[in-house]
Amino acid sequence: MPAEQVILIIVLVFVILTTGYSVFTGISPVPSSPTSYAKIEEILLDEGVTRVVDLGAGWGCLLMPLAAAMPEVQFLGYELSPFPLVFARLRGALFRRRNVRIERQDLRKTSFQGADAVICYLYSELLEKLRPNLERDLKPGTIVVSNVFDIPGWRPEAVHRLDCSQCPQVYVYRVPDRTAAAAAAGVGMGGLTA
Ligand SMILES: C[S@@+](CC[C@H](N)C(=O)[O-])C[C@H]1O[C@@H](n2cnc3c(N)ncnc32)[C@H](O)[C@@H]1O
Repeated sequence: MPAEQVILIIVLVFVILTTGYSVFTGISPVPSSPTSYAKIEEILLDEGVTRVVDLGAGWGCLLMPLAAAMPEVQFLGYELSPFPLVFARLRGALFRRRNVRIERQDLRKTSFQGADAVICYLYSELLEKLRPNLERDLKPGTIVVSNVFDIPGWRPEAVHRLDCSQCPQVYVYRVPDRTAAAAAAGVGMGGLTA
């Protein structure tokens, strides 16, 4: 088969597969901007985190620079779309980012246990669906940094406005204490209290 045909087939598979996954997940693998990346790095450095999970690692544009800036921190990225996943893994291998792991997982079926910080660049509808899992798996007080989109149902601890049209804000949340919230609302483990 001529080389041009091979290249054309690879490009077509790339476009079809990546577009298909963008439709399936509801978001394309658009990377975080350098401005939002810098803000997220600043927030994580202030926090003194040790195990960070990136929900939807994409091409690794957020994960890899953070891993380079914080070599003592362990980073775990989840990504479903095959081309971004392979690219991000190759990037990690090429630059010997030993503190980064990227797993092929659907966020909607993943446990986030063990993370002491979560970062993401998703969209509000998906974040709302993921919120119960975050509350289930993460310790109360765990920091969740959401690039661009808010998490419906949670009150942000801070909203950092950025001079960036692509990523105009970064939201900072803390996982709420569900037990305390339920007690305050008069709901016990066995259902409604008297
Ligand atoms: C906007 S990109 C952000 C990429 C990277 N975190 C960054 O900030 O540069 C969102 C990524 O989340 C991935 N994603 C969306 N829904 C997902 C799901 N349910 N499971 C795994 N990955 C998902 C998409 O494939 C996409 O690559």
